[in-house]
Amino acid sequence: MDKFVINGPTRLTGEVTISGAKNAAVAIIPAVILSDGICRIENIPNISDVHIITQILYALGADIKRVNLNTLEIDPRNIHTTVVPHELAKRMRASYYLIGALLGKFNKARVSMPGGCDLGIRPMDLHIKGFEALGATVKTENAMINCTADNLIGSPIYLDMVSVGATVNIMLAAVKAYGLTVIENAAKEPHIVDLANFLNSMGADIRGAGTDLIKIYGVPKLHGTNYSIIPDQIEAGTYMVAAAATNGDVLVKNVIPKHLESISAKLEEMGVQVEEYDDSIRVISNGNLRRCNIKTMPHPGFPTDMQPQLSVLLSMAEGTSIVTENVWGNRFRYIDELRRMGMKAVVDGQVAVFEGGCKLTGAPVMATDLRAGAAMVIAAMAAQGQSEIENIYHIERGYENIVEKLTALGADIKRITVPDETPKAAARVS
Ligand code: EPU
Repeated sequence: MDKFVINGPTRLTGEVTISGAKNAAVAIIPAVILSDGICRIENIPNISDVHIITQILYALGADIKRVNLNTLEIDPRNIHTTVVPHELAKRMRASYYLIGALLGKFNKARVSMPGGCDLGIRPMDLHIKGFEALGATVKTENAMINCTADNLIGSPIYLDMVSVGATVNIMLAAVKAYGLTVIENAAKEPHIVDLANFLNSMGADIRGAGTDLIKIYGVPKLHGTNYSIIPDQIEAGTYMVAAAATNGDVLVKNVIPKHLESISAKLEEMGVQVEEYDDSIRVISNGNLRRCNIKTMPHPGFPTDMQPQLSVLLSMAEGTSIVTENVWGNRFRYIDELRRMGMKAVVDGQVAVFEGGCKLTGAPVMATDLRAGAAMVIAAMAAQGQSEIENIYHIERGYENIVEKLTALGADIKRITVPDETPKAAARVS
């Protein structure tokens, strides 16, 4: 059980380079299944979620060559099974993209219900509605989702609520279907656009990605491609908030500033200086933070995946701030942990009220999910004294080289390997 040990307070200064987007990578890697040729994908973040999805493709029979730490060549032509067992699928949420990709390629998929962060109820009704609209029969038995189709046929599909996962999965299943599929009320996140660009680079005909109406004209065949994944919007936002929380001055490089507008706007509202350049953003804070309210929304609204990190900043600002979580039902669990560091907040259902002006102090805390863990790292760097963060595997699912990147900015952060304390391990040691 490894942990981070962080001594604060720190003032982050310097430059940090943002990695490729996790949520684009975990959609694009399964999308390779649809190709009839080799795909070379660059700017893949070297994180555990990517390792897991890559291992699943390997287990299905894909040939995978690691060109370098951030580039893979994947040849899907030897994939020999459409079954993804529980042992593989349970390890991450995005394993459900195997359903759309396998169904789209082979007209069948049998995939175990996915795992992933516990953010509240995570239904798949919209994914299933989409597969069925395309002509698939979907049955769930023994926690396996079983999809079969004679032929997939394009169809209009209205999403009752905006869902990133359903939009991705329907795109994957529809890209080779016969005729036109129209997704109405589609998600508009940057990684949706990135996936559409990737599929189009393989010969797909997808139009409108980035708007709420996506048209997919089915094509019979997709070929290999070379593609580079976009920078990670949430990793960038996390470093921006980290700079603001530590009175820092950080140039966040390799970003698409347009993807960060909702985050930049909130930081500016709080009195943080944000300077935008072509592919970088500089964040400067003098420590005088003003309160503000946040409501999380699908893109281009304020991202739920930045809510815990920004809430740390709100607890340090002058005045009381209100955060409304509109996407997930259970995304305030980190508050109980951060109370140990001095955060003051009251939670009522989907709303949390943060009392500002908290002087955070170091404490042992436990990452409850990926973004909660990122929030704890930020709090620990701003706090007086030493913090220990456990369950860092959550954080390492989504942040490449976080210790190295923060250390280069001046943080005092170490990753400590804690020996297993079970009697068996103890016996081995003695
Ligand atoms: N929903 C349904 N039915 C469905 C699908 C979703 O009711 O069939 C609901 C969910 O319960 C939720 C809302 O729709 O209330 C949005 O869920 P969405 O499907 O958009 O989420 P997701 O695809 O499971 C992705 C990201 C999450 C991110 C959300 C929202 C990936 C792999 N995951 O999840 O990222 O929070 O979109 O932006 O892309 C993270 O990176 O830390 C993370 C959790």
